[in-house]
Amino acid sequence: MNRVYIKTYGCQMNERDSEAVAAMLRGKGYSIVDNEQEADVVLLNTCSVRDQAEQKAIGKAGHLAKRKRKDPNFIIGVMGCMAQNRGSELLDRLPDLDLIIGTQKFHRVPDHLSNLIATMQGQGPRPHSIVDLEEEADSQNTIKSHTSDTLQVTAFVSIMQGCNMKCSYCIVPKTRGAERARPMGEIITEIKELAANGTREVTLLGQIVNQYGIREFPFVDQKSPFVQLLEKVHEIEGIDRIRFTSPHPVGFKDDLIECYGRLPKLVEYLHFPMQSGSNRILKAMRRPYSIEKFREIIGKLRTVRPDMYISTDIIVGFPGETEADFELTRRHFEEIGFDMAYLFKYSVRPDTTAEPLGDPVTKEQKEERNQILLDILAKQSLARNETLIGTVEHVLFEGPAKKGDNMFLGRTPGNRVVLVKASRRLIGQIVPVRFNRATASTLFGELVLEGVEAEPKQSVSTTV
Ligand code: 5AD
Ligand code: SF4
Repeated sequence: MNRVYIKTYGCQMNERDSEAVAAMLRGKGYSIVDNEQEADVVLLNTCSVRDQAEQKAIGKAGHLAKRKRKDPNFIIGVMGCMAQNRGSELLDRLPDLDLIIGTQKFHRVPDHLSNLIATMQGQGPRPHSIVDLEEEADSQNTIKSHTSDTLQVTAFVSIMQGCNMKCSYCIVPKTRGAERARPMGEIITEIKELAANGTREVTLLGQIVNQYGIREFPFVDQKSPFVQLLEKVHEIEGIDRIRFTSPHPVGFKDDLIECYGRLPKLVEYLHFPMQSGSNRILKAMRRPYSIEKFREIIGKLRTVRPDMYISTDIIVGFPGETEADFELTRRHFEEIGFDMAYLFKYSVRPDTTAEPLGDPVTKEQKEERNQILLDILAKQSLARNETLIGTVEHVLFEGPAKKGDNMFLGRTPGNRVVLVKASRRLIGQIVPVRFNRATASTLFGELVLEGVEAEPKQSVSTTV
């Protein structure tokens, strides 16, 4: 009864939560397996951001329930955002669920599981499903365990939970609750331990990461708590690259922009959600910035780091988005020249302020707008990768590529995926690679074995 498979839907925050649950379960003697057939327990860590993500997880749970009917000792749990959003109502549809665990209760999974197993192994009736969805003070401090028995070249570190923004389309404030920051000292201890175990790169995670600690901790020398945290992470020996996701344009102030000029470990890559290029739609989305302000921030960043790579999130088909609104999104999307983007078709979410607006933009219109942006993105991404052919960049190797054939996968500081014929010994190493071929998504190249210095420190201006 101790083999657990965790399937994760959704964002990097969910990936991190699943990883922490896996580490906690390992600590209690469970083994984490990588396919559901071998598992005695399957936990689905779910996403609610779009209806489709919820339907996928519900479908999966329904499928697993068939197995449970044949094997009553098989355990099915649903954790995370959809558990929080739908709560015990899930049991009406999926009465076979054993566990429903909310976003502030991940750390309770090991106890709930062992109670469930103990009851199952007793003689009594089938145990009741466990539903644990309460808010819990300081739950943000519980997502800290990492597995130390495998090398994590690149690691996610959750620095806060929740979101106080009120974007009208978004369910996250409901599923994740209000913003709560972890203490800086605990985050630094966690990253030092990761570094001691061989981690070279960290991604600091939060729903609105640049707002980290804004209510809990003071500004020091006009630097926000997030900038203070970046400085502290920067000092950690062994960590060579710092990423974070996702920031909000509100609160993306000069103190943070300047970091790109003076903290060389901060990579020249930023995920920066734009959502729409129309001020009218941004307002309806309750995104409190204009497209001009958004572009001004990007302009300043590019002054400080001309080689900046920028990715974004866009929603097409928000209620009331006209052809003219979309044309603005298209134009700004093209002019900014995003290197990567996550494009979403609007999905109505329960209890959001946009819910009463319905879903008037047709599926076909959304599809068409989505495709237009996808085509632009493919061109832009390919063009950026092609500029790299013949150049050399430092690549952090993460592991073998799925394709096999002695191919290994790494990333440039700008987050471009690189595939190179290499050897296992390069995993966890930062190695210069000369690129000789590019697609929109991938760079191919060969190792440069001699005459290249260590990862170059940026020589950049600090004026913003
Ligand atoms: N419909 C479509 N996309 C959404 N997102 C958030 N809520 C919705 C929704 N209701 C997108 C936003 C956000 C990303 C994580 O998901 O672009 O930045
Ligand atoms: Fe959702 Fe907006 Fe918060 Fe992001 S900032 S999690 S889109 S409410």
